[in-house]
Amino acid sequence: MEDDFLVQVLNLYKNQKWKEIIELNKVDNAVAARKLLWVWPSESNLQMMDSTIRQFSLYGVISIGCGCGLFEWLLGQFSGLTVIGYEVNQEWWSSRYSNPQFIKLNFPDQPPTPEILFPDYALLFCYFNDGKAFREYISCYKGNLSRFWVK
Ligand SMILES: C[S@@+](CC[C@H](N)C(=O)[O-])C[C@H]1O[C@@H](n2cnc3c(N)ncnc32)[C@H](O)[C@@H]1O
Repeated sequence: MEDDFLVQVLNLYKNQKWKEIIELNKVDNAVAARKLLWVWPSESNLQMMDSTIRQFSLYGVISIGCGCGLFEWLLGQFSGLTVIGYEVNQEWWSSRYSNPQFIKLNFPDQPPTPEILFPDYALLFCYFNDGKAFREYISCYKGNLSRFWVK
């Protein structure tokens, strides 16, 4: 069941059918979906992010703790913005246990340094799970959108 869902998502991804992936939100497949994404975005979620980023005249998004990058790929497809993904544990993400990846994952040094956090990009933390690292990223960031909170 979970594998079927993953194959379905991968086929849609290969065919650039991002709208159909978003529609899977309506399918009752929470366990399988959660393996790929903690939050399955709606088009209106992506619209809100796109317009907020453009309102601040930013070039795109740096997603910290992007996981497999499916959310980020959907945002990039929807908006045309550049979406950069940062993760930790490159070895695991290169192993056979990891999920397939939907964007290129980057593995910055830890703790992070200001050069990797371009001030003309918004920072995105979606279900980020390391408070200490969160504070380190925020203290390196010289842009002004990281204080825009969405609940
Ligand atoms: C709960 S998962 C959320 C994944 C994805 N954002 C989502 O919403 O599905 C948190 C992610 O943050 C990553 N992470 C933890 N510490 C990190 C750090 N210091 N820098 C970048 N990513 C980190 C973890 O490897 C994990 O993939």
